[in-house]
Parts: sequence; structure tokens; C-alpha cells
Amino acid sequence: MSDGDLRGFSDTIAALPSPPPAPAATDAARAARGAEVAGRLRCAGCHGADFAGGKQVPRIGGQREDYLLAALQGFRGARRLGYTPAMTEALAGTTPDELQDLAHFLAHAPPPR
Ligand code: HEC
Repeated sequence: MSDGDLRGFSDTIAALPSPPPAPAATDAARAARGAEVAGRLRCAGCHGADFAGGKQVPRIGGQREDYLLAALQGFRGARRLGYTPAMTEALAGTTPDELQDLAHFLAHAPPPR
């Protein structure tokens, strides 16, 4: 694809409406555990303090929980290869429960700007 093709795709995707906000009901204990893991592993260092991403780093705040979990499990299990090893390294040593808590926390993080 040419640069023009890629710009066309990104312009079209950027014009799509934002997804509806995540349901308000969260499991407070899981969200708190997820927030603790996200802080310890410095997820915001790359994804931004509000997890909205930027430049080549994707937004993760307010994404669907099932999608986030699948992505995290994919990186952790080396089934999903990123264009950098950033995510494989970020998730090294995480447990399956920690991935569940991270996905729950991030899915209920503030919606995109
Ligand atoms: C060193 C920078 C860095 C850190 C730290 C980091 N990430 Fe990422 N993350 C990235 C990059 C770059 C990508 C895009 C990788 C790709 O798809 O090739 C990404 C992708 C993702 C995705 C997939 C998003 C999508 O739309 O498919 C999720 C989910 C994610 N990161 C969650 C996290 C979580 C949770 C943490 C903390 C445990 C974290 N990241 C820490 C850089 C980072």
C-alpha cells in the first residue's frame, strides 16, 4: 500500500464515531488490582497517563475488555508479535490473573478524548 492508501484508511477510521462508554458497573477490587499492576509495570509510560496512546502507540483506555484481554494474552504467550518487542517485555512475568485485572481496569479507564 502507498502512503496515500494508509492515510486514507487512517482518515476514515479517525472519522468513525467513538465507541459507547463502557458500562459503569465495574468490579472495584479487580479494577484496583489492575491499576496497581499498570502502575508497577509502567503501562502509562508508553500509552499515556490517560491511556489514550499517541503516535505509534495505541489507545488502550476504554477499549473492549475482551479485546484487551485477547491482546494481552497474545503478547504474553508470544502468539501476537508487535512491531517492537515493547509489549512482550512489558508483560514478562505477569500472571494470567494479572492480565484479567489489567483488561478489566483499562476497559473502564476514562474514555478517549
Ligand atoms: C515500552 C513501551 C510500552 C509499554 C511500557 C507498554 N506498552 Fe502496550 N504497546 C506498546 C506498543 C508500541 C504497542 C503496539 C504494538 C504492536 O501492535 O505492534 C502496544 C500495544 C498494546 C496493546 C494492544 C492494543 C491494540 O489496540 O491492539 C495493549 C492492550 C497494551 N499495549 C497494553 C499495555 C499494558 C497493559 C501495559 C502495561 C503492563 C503496556 N501496554 C505497556 C508499547 C508499550
